Amino acid sequence: MRVGRIAHELIRLGHPVVAVDESAEMLRHVRGAEVVQARIEELDLGRRFACVLLASHLVNTSDTVQRRAFLDAWARHVAENGVVLIERHEPSWAPEEGIRGRMGEVTIALQDVRIAPGCVSATVCYEADGRTWRHGFDALVFDDHGRDQELQAAGLRMTRVLDERGAWVEARLYSSA
Ligand SMILES: C[S@@+](CC[C@H](N)C(=O)[O-])C[C@H]1O[C@@H](n2cnc3c(N)ncnc32)[C@H](O)[C@@H]1O
Repeated sequence: MRVGRIAHELIRLGHPVVAVDESAEMLRHVRGAEVVQARIEELDLGRRFACVLLASHLVNTSDTVQRRAFLDAWARHVAENGVVLIERHEPSWAPEEGIRGRMGEVTIALQDVRIAPGCVSATVCYEADGRTWRHGFDALVFDDHGRDQELQAAGLRMTRVLDERGAWVEARLYSSA
């Protein structure tokens, strides 16, 4: 289980962290952070932060209503001069079928990969102890230009790509960028 992949590292570096997840089970494993069990789309803490993070490719949801709700949630929680850091599938992402890796005893593989312009669909297959769990997904490409309008509609704009792969991007409130 990848719990606190980023939160625990930020806490180790001395940053105060508010960890949000809809899953109480996941939050039970978080140590040293304020935890909030909520759907991000509905989150309204009435506070603003210097940095708001949305990890794990949630931004690649193919549900446009949900994506807009994510963008609105960032915009209501980021401070005037703060940053929103987004982990996305890099826009050129074109995964191949086959084994992606192992987490302990669990083998993770991609099956039924379909790549269409602007969208990658596949089934993730987890295998452990002879048991299998499959999870299908459609990942919408979140590229540097095409999403501008969506960001702007939420009062945000993309200000920087942060890594070579283009998997992390920075956005700011439109008024402060
Ligand atoms: C793959 S895990 C990643 C865990 C960890 N946050 C990380 O990035 O390494 C995805 C997590 O996102 C949570 N999640 C998915 N959709 C969510 C939503 N709309 N609101 C809040 N949490 C959500 C799931 O409960 C799960 O714990």
